[in-house]
Amino acid sequence: MDDRGNMLTDTFGRRHDYLRISLTERCNMRCFYCMPEEGIPLRPKEEFMRQEELLSIAGTFVSMGVRKIRLTGGEPLIRRDAAEIIEGLSRLPVELAITTNGVLVDRFIDVFQRARIQSVNVSLDSLDAEKMHRITRRDHFEQVMANIRLLMREGFDVKVNVVLIRGTNDDEIGDFVQWTAEEGVRVRFIEFMPFDGNRWDWSKGISLQEVLDTVGTRFGANNIERLTDGPHDTAKHYRIKGHKGDFAVISTVTNPFCDSCNRLRLTADGRMKNCLFSGTETDLLSAYRQGEDITDLIRDTVLHKKKARGGMDTLDEFSKPENHARNRTMQAIGG
Ligand code: 5AD
Ligand code: SF4
Repeated sequence: MDDRGNMLTDTFGRRHDYLRISLTERCNMRCFYCMPEEGIPLRPKEEFMRQEELLSIAGTFVSMGVRKIRLTGGEPLIRRDAAEIIEGLSRLPVELAITTNGVLVDRFIDVFQRARIQSVNVSLDSLDAEKMHRITRRDHFEQVMANIRLLMREGFDVKVNVVLIRGTNDDEIGDFVQWTAEEGVRVRFIEFMPFDGNRWDWSKGISLQEVLDTVGTRFGANNIERLTDGPHDTAKHYRIKGHKGDFAVISTVTNPFCDSCNRLRLTADGRMKNCLFSGTETDLLSAYRQGEDITDLIRDTVLHKKKARGGMDTLDEFSKPENHARNRTMQAIGG
């Protein structure tokens, strides 16, 4: 019997078998809701996990029950040794996946294939080149689109992540869903989430319900089919009858999915987080460098996991900026 999973069960009975690892805080884009224009202050290299450290710490998580690892960032593929890390992780008995902004994907297709990566999530907040430029402050739209097509041609399971922000790209909901008509693309709309310093305010957010209303107006409410979600899916899935692809909404704000959460996180500087919204972190890297056994630290961090959204159970608490002040921004945590 395989009882590795028991080591990562929290006080609410949730088993954690999914680890998201951020390879770097840095990024080659500057999405206005995620990164300041000038980028983030450069920190000394020693503060981040070296390749061997990352592989070894990941191995410990796997020995405790992790079955799936997703690489995130910042932009994971800008790390110089990204290919070697992917190869190293592919030797562990886990399903490997990656979330990327898509810019460098064409250079990594072989690496992904050798590592048997199936699932690639690409962030694309607009189908309009000029608007993409306004959002990301970079000119990579054509490259990202070409790379999404390349991934689909090569048979990867491609999901396109769209963070919806009122007044920015909410007018494109229908166009994104139209894209699923002829192509097997899977669009995932993400409710805009609050992080330290991103000047979040829910009036800029678009809820799951609003997405459904908007899609219903364009395609007919009766044509929206609800699909079955996986047991730990953070997204609620839908399809327009007759469309090849599908769409989904990740409703962290209006419909949190904390009850079925199976995720843990490791930041590029070797801190473990038991929730995207937790205000505390566990410094695994320092402990590892001091030769400590990190198994107990990991288990302890899992046992401290709160029931919902790092302890912010209600939308009211979730909406208070001061409750996010101790958390980091997305590019530092890694989605
Ligand atoms: N709210 C929702 N999604 C966000 N992302 C970055 N910042 C936010 C935020 N404040 C998205 C990125 C990417 C994924 C990893 O997280 O656009 O698709
Ligand atoms: Fe980079 Fe993603 Fe942040 Fe945009 S959202 S700046 S692509 S890490």
